[in-house]
Amino acid sequence: MASLFPKPRKKLVFLASGRGSNLEAVLQAVQKGRIRGIPELLITDNPEASAIGVGSKYGVPSKILNFSSYAQKEKYHSDLLEILEAQSPDLIVTCGYMRILKKDVIRSFPNRIINIHPSLLPAFPGLNAQKQAFEYGVKISGCTAHFIDEGVDSGPVILQGTVKIDPEMTERELTLAILKEEHKILPLAVKLFCENRLSIKNRKVSIL
Ligand code: GRF
Repeated sequence: MASLFPKPRKKLVFLASGRGSNLEAVLQAVQKGRIRGIPELLITDNPEASAIGVGSKYGVPSKILNFSSYAQKEKYHSDLLEILEAQSPDLIVTCGYMRILKKDVIRSFPNRIINIHPSLLPAFPGLNAQKQAFEYGVKISGCTAHFIDEGVDSGPVILQGTVKIDPEMTERELTLAILKEEHKILPLAVKLFCENRLSIKNRKVSIL
């Protein structure tokens, strides 16, 4: 029998390095009551990130770990892990976070870190995915919301959004069209996670 009590909301922590438009898409969805989550903290490696302002607009505090001011880069990663463990989120969302997470972070939060990547994975992993797709000449590209595993952009795929590339489309137009899709699928992936509707078997994600 289903519980008569509402399920508790999931604790969310975000990692972002830049503009923060995906962060904003998720926070808007929380604000509108579409995501049953509590955005608790934004962590950024970049003190100049506009994402910090986005977070504060929605009342989300930021913790700045200025990557470039760390003489020992290992210390950055251990500080990050310490903050994450102290915060103990149900879900970490990396949205425009430009660093690769260390294995110990990934192992501490297995299948509890969601990333948004601007290509149809497994095509065009890594940096500048939109440019890679544009230059390759594919006819369809898009974006992927996926769980993070120990590889680069290689974790189980949750959702994908597609963009048709017309012959006259510029790389900038492609990037903007993909971003529009990102703003749809990342909040949806977070919503599904918060409703316990994602199940993973043999790396395949089913939506319950
Ligand atoms: C997005 O295209 C995301 O897919 C990529 O970096 C960009 C970040 O944009 N990883 P924003 O900071 O969310 O606006």
